[in-house]
Amino acid sequence: MDSFSTLIRTASHEQHVAAETSTFMSDLLGGRLGVAAYARYTEQLWFVYDALESGAARLASDPVAGPFVQPELYRLAALEQDLAHLRGAGWRTGLAALPATEEYAARVRECAEAWPAGYIAHHYTRYLGDLSGGQIIRDRAERTWGFEKKGDGVRFYVFEQVANPAAFKRGYRDLLDAVDADDLERQRIVTECKRAFALNTEMFRELGEEFPLTA
Ligand code: HEM
Repeated sequence: MDSFSTLIRTASHEQHVAAETSTFMSDLLGGRLGVAAYARYTEQLWFVYDALESGAARLASDPVAGPFVQPELYRLAALEQDLAHLRGAGWRTGLAALPATEEYAARVRECAEAWPAGYIAHHYTRYLGDLSGGQIIRDRAERTWGFEKKGDGVRFYVFEQVANPAAFKRGYRDLLDAVDADDLERQRIVTECKRAFALNTEMFRELGEEFPLTA
């Protein structure tokens, strides 16, 4: 039987392709959007990571989600540095979540509070993605909008405290394989992971509506 880490990756593959090839992501990676679109996207991420990380400390002692709570992954401080660069010192003023972002953040909070195993699905979907495809986004952002390499504007994608991302991902998959959940609960985590991807895709859809390409 496949390991749980393989199961979750395989089961979410289709959703991954959908997120990756969404109009907004394609346009962003294709260098067809202005820096305002990138800033708006970064703004949405702030709401998502605020939800992911404000519940994390309490989950640290949880038998199921606890092993996943690793402060070296935390992104909120980096996002705030990027936002200060993108929006200025008053970055917090007027920061606004799109409806899809509200829904996404609310679901993450709900899991963090009431269903630690479900929180793992959200944790995996964001952090493992950031450590993987996130590096492609960073490279494009640096080239397209001229951010300093690994500097302000793209700090979100720079995991200063993860020295070896490939090794970290291997360790992360070991954590998934060892998750303290029976088969039914593992299946529910997979379902929640698909939902996490769908929430991302919906956020991209709304961002795409806000930043259409004038063909
Ligand atoms: C926008 C363009 C994206 C690109 C180019 C991209 C690319 C990649 C690549 C190349 C990997 C494989 C890394 C490896 O094998 O070590 C990966 C893994 C992953 N990506 Fe993405 N990705 C993108 C968007 C996303 C999005 C939007 C999400 C979810 C929000 C996401 C979530 C993940 C996850 C969870 C993994 C880990 C899969 C696993 O090994 O279990 N990715 N991505």
